[in-house]
Amino acid sequence: MSRIPPPYRIKVVEPVPFLSAPERRAALDAAGYNPFNLRADQITVDFLSDSGTGATSTAQEAAAALGDESYAGARSWFRFRDEAAELTGYDHLLPVHQGRAAERILFTNLLKPGQICVSNTHFDTTHANVEIVGAEAVDLPCPEAADLDSHEPFKGNIDLAALEALLAGPDGERVGLVLLTITNNGLGAQPVSMANLTAARDLAHRFGKPFFLDAARFAENAWLVKQREPGYADRTPKEIATAAFQLADGCLISLKKDGLTAIGGLIGLKDPELFGRCEALLIATEGFSTYGGLAGHDLERLAVGLREVVDPSYLAARAEQTARFARMVNDAGVATIQPAGIHALYLNAGRLLPHLTPAEFPGHSLGCQMFLDGGIRSAELGSLYLGTLDEEHRLVSPAPFELVRLAIPRRVYTEEHFAYVAEVLGDIAKDPERIRGYRIVSAPPLLRHFKVRLAPR
Ligand code: F0G
Repeated sequence: MSRIPPPYRIKVVEPVPFLSAPERRAALDAAGYNPFNLRADQITVDFLSDSGTGATSTAQEAAAALGDESYAGARSWFRFRDEAAELTGYDHLLPVHQGRAAERILFTNLLKPGQICVSNTHFDTTHANVEIVGAEAVDLPCPEAADLDSHEPFKGNIDLAALEALLAGPDGERVGLVLLTITNNGLGAQPVSMANLTAARDLAHRFGKPFFLDAARFAENAWLVKQREPGYADRTPKEIATAAFQLADGCLISLKKDGLTAIGGLIGLKDPELFGRCEALLIATEGFSTYGGLAGHDLERLAVGLREVVDPSYLAARAEQTARFARMVNDAGVATIQPAGIHALYLNAGRLLPHLTPAEFPGHSLGCQMFLDGGIRSAELGSLYLGTLDEEHRLVSPAPFELVRLAIPRRVYTEEHFAYVAEVLGDIAKDPERIRGYRIVSAPPLLRHFKVRLAPR
């Protein structure tokens, strides 16, 4: 069968706004040409993030009604904890309100100033939280990731040779943590193989370093392992996810993605001593260790979400939805990072807009045009986000690629929404030279892309 229908149907809907072209132009201008400044009621299809933007199920909402809001020892905590313990296999679990709180709490207790955190690719807040504790974030993506068009199955892997060279070299002493992001959100939603996780873990342990997972998309990584890695076809996504967690000394999870909820996160640990230190900071800054900043009803939705997300029929339909969307976009004349991952498509804006230099931010220009033409919101992953700027906000060194991420909320958009977006992109691809570049008007020093303001050139 060529079609995989999703294992759910729509019960509650939310209106989608359609602005006129002049209204969109005025909205983007007032937003300083930064999609983070747009209002949700100005957006027709919102592909800014897959984080906290998914639809919940009837089972999750029914469970939420049972939310126990006791300050300590709530029933909802134990339901969530039991699900999370079964999934991850970790004895020591701490709830947090979202992934970056887990980053702050773990890095404060695990990294010292001057140390290095090494990863396949740090996500933006992860990078920032490493730097906030005075450590350095080093990315070592595998060489295959540099070819956006190749169909290598595991372009999310860490470069094992480079990792070994770092650990064995003069800076090896400074490495405080090896952290693998599954799937690799910074580089095309590409999965990490179990073989790569195992080899990275072995290297980290050989050099006496802790090995952790940033596992926001643990179920999607498990699904791609099942499809692509020899030896895993007969394992369930849940078994594969558990095996990945068990390779590591612990994990950070933003549950706003594969937790299938609007809010939530988790720290999982094997080491009771590290757990004690993290728990103290959690209580001081997030909340008591049986709620960690979450409401009982959130914990209930999460307990159910952790089961629903590893359902093979759900994952098959979601993976197929993204793969089909990628084909539509490619057929419309826009290249995407190959092969398609699951949580997002990454448009190759550099290739579509060769008349724009990196200093004119082609990814940003494409994102703006998608909003102006179709009310579509996306996220730039190019020189605006990753390039180095001087004090006058001039680009000094560009990003390796000029990309636009279309992040796909879980269980939210239908086939027609995807076809609509592909059509808007197809129209842009017919006459790309009409698209102008942008210049920065003002930018903050940290996490630039969230607060930058721009203007057309
Ligand atoms: N790690 C990864 C790999 C992420 O993708 C994110 C968030 C975080 C950590 C932080 O988690 O948002 O719950 O605090 N990614 C979202 C995105 C925001 O759009 O990719 P958080």
